Amino acid sequence: MSRVRVGMLTTTQGGGGFGEQAPLFRALLRSARREGCIAYVFTPAGVDWDAGRVRGWVASPGGRWRCRSFPMPDVIYDRIVCREDLRRPAVDGALSRLKAMYRGRYFNPCLLDKWEVYQALASDASLDEHLPETRLLTTPDVARDMAGRHPVMFIKPRRGTQGRRIVRLDRRTSDPMGSYRVRSQICREQTVPTLDRAMAIAAPGTEDLIQQGIEGPSIRGGRPFDLRALLHRDGRAGSRAESGWRLTCIVARVGRRGAITSNLHTGGTAVRARTLLREVYRARPSQAQAALTRLRRLALTVPPALERSFGHFGELALDLLLDGQGNPWLLEVNSRPGRRALVLAGEGRARALAGRRIFRHARSLVEGDDR
Ligand SMILES: Nc1ncnc2c1ncn2[C@@H]1O[C@H](COP(=O)(O)OP(=O)(O)OP(=O)(O)O)[C@@H](O)[C@H]1O
Ligand SMILES: [Mg+2]
Repeated sequence: MSRVRVGMLTTTQGGGGFGEQAPLFRALLRSARREGCIAYVFTPAGVDWDAGRVRGWVASPGGRWRCRSFPMPDVIYDRIVCREDLRRPAVDGALSRLKAMYRGRYFNPCLLDKWEVYQALASDASLDEHLPETRLLTTPDVARDMAGRHPVMFIKPRRGTQGRRIVRLDRRTSDPMGSYRVRSQICREQTVPTLDRAMAIAAPGTEDLIQQGIEGPSIRGGRPFDLRALLHRDGRAGSRAESGWRLTCIVARVGRRGAITSNLHTGGTAVRARTLLREVYRARPSQAQAALTRLRRLALTVPPALERSFGHFGELALDLLLDGQGNPWLLEVNSRPGRRALVLAGEGRARALAGRRIFRHARSLVEGDDR
């Protein structure tokens, strides 16, 4: 069989590079070669529908981007990260056409929206108890209602990313309407006497969510942490996991001291999950292992549930949290995961494995041993 051609779809133009995704694309192009695939990066504007060809970008050994004409890909791996671009009629039209044409050979078909994901997963009985309660902040009554149940709450945009525009409210009394400590990246910490005052500082829009805060065990003088699980569909026949999904790696991201988020973009760093969990459960290594097992188990239940609502994925990343009792919570699902946390945590082998699994999956879609 001839080599499988994989088109990695994005909207930013080559030449000058692909912005933050450039190093990832370079690494993926190397993984493709190792897996015997022909890969290139392309944009909707680069498709020549009449000729059935596409302008594809590849990196030269020196790392410079070069563009040439390729036949249309056999499989499309969608890596579009810019929501504004998706609203452009030309992009939207081209994507609809490509999705209709490729159907099961098009994977990671959308950018996810935190509110849509919550609604889809909350109806799944096995996930319900692992999701922090989340509501769309349509009226002030929503916040008052949530405050009655949750002493810590987070406010964030439903389509937010990289820890931007997140506000944390900590209740300081037993009265849900009472005093709050308000923290965010952009305004200095404040303590206010009422919930309404706290909400006035948070100033949420109608596209913002309010979410139950999960308080983890305290580490390193109160630095927040989360765990990022990277999962791939394993294209090999006879895959161990019944769903076809496997956990490629799990790393911990640790925020700055005093921060409310653990994202790398907000000053966090990353370490191996084992390292962090040993630190959390210092005197009790068996608890560290048990927490890791629970995180892994939860992670593997997410992709099949997500695919029932959002289509076919080959790769997903999950943001997970642990509460003070060691219970795992699912905070977020990302369909365009980067690799920076893996690199910072020294998980270079997992990074390479992630790349290989992408192209094994792509190959299996053509060779027919996966779906
Ligand atoms: N409900 C919560 N409980 C505890 N910590 C939270 C909560 N919500 C957010 N955080 C902290 O803020 C960080 C960012 O939150 P979240 O993952 O929801 O948004 P985002 O990172 O901006 O989105 P993306 O992961 O798509 O870039 C989390 O990793 C966590 O450290
Ligand atoms: Mg996140």
